[in-house]
Amino acid sequence: MLEAIKVSRARFITFEGGEGVGKSTQVKRLLQNLQRNAIEAVCTREPGGTPKAEAVRSFILQGRSESWGAEAEAVLFAAARLDHVTQLIAPNLRNGIWVLSDRFHDSTRAYQGLAGSVNERLIDTLESLALDGHAPDLTIVLDMDPVAAFKRVAYRAIEDGLALTGDRFEKEELKWHIRLRDGFLAIARDNPGRCVVISAAQHEDALEAAIWLVVSERFPELLGGSQA
Ligand code: TYD
Repeated sequence: MLEAIKVSRARFITFEGGEGVGKSTQVKRLLQNLQRNAIEAVCTREPGGTPKAEAVRSFILQGRSESWGAEAEAVLFAAARLDHVTQLIAPNLRNGIWVLSDRFHDSTRAYQGLAGSVNERLIDTLESLALDGHAPDLTIVLDMDPVAAFKRVAYRAIEDGLALTGDRFEKEELKWHIRLRDGFLAIARDNPGRCVVISAAQHEDALEAAIWLVVSERFPELLGGSQA
C-alpha cells in the first residue's frame, strides 16, 4: 500500500575530476538521458550557477584572487557555493527538479585542500556552512591520467583554433595535477556510498553509457523500478 503512494524525490548529482576529463559534455548528456525518461532536470556549474556566484567565478578564474592566498580563495568558493545552494539548488530540488552540477564541494576539498595548502579543518567548516545540508545524492568522479587529459585539452584547442592560455588552475604544473587526481580518488574512497569513480579514458559515447548505467542502477525509480 505504502509503495503505491511513494513519490520519487528529485536527486542532486555532481560531476567531479581534474582538468580536461570531459565533465561538461557528460553533464549535458546525462541531462538529455534524464529528459528522455521524462525527468525534469537542470544543469549548473561551479564556481557559478547564479549571478553572484558567476561574479565570484570571473574574479577567481581571472587570477584576481591569487594574491589573497589559498585560504581566502577557499572562502570565496564557499561564498559562491552558499548562494548557489540557497538560490538555485535547494529551490529546484524542492520543486521536484533534478539538479546536475559540473563540480561542487569536492572540488574545494581536492583543489584547495588536498592539492593545495588549505587545512582540513577550514575545508570541513566551509563545507558544512556552504552546503546547508544539501550533500549530493551521487557524485560521479571522472578519473584520467593528467598527461592524457592535458593532451586531450590541447588537441581540442587546436581543433577549435584556440590558443592554449589556461585559467588560474589550468596553469599549475604536472606534479600538482597528479596530487589533484589522487585527491579526488581519496575523496571517493572516503565516501563510498556517495561517490562512483569512472574512467574518463574512453570514448565519450561509452562514457555516457557507463554513467547512465550507474545513475539508473542507483535510482531505479528512473526506469519504473522501486525507489532506493
Ligand atoms: P572551469 O573552466 O569550469 O574548469 P573545468 O572545466 O575543469 O571545471 O574552471 C573552474 C576551475 O576552478 C577549475 O580549474 C577548478 C577550479 N575550482 C576550484 O579550485 N575550487 C572549487 O571549489 C571549484 C568549484 C572549482
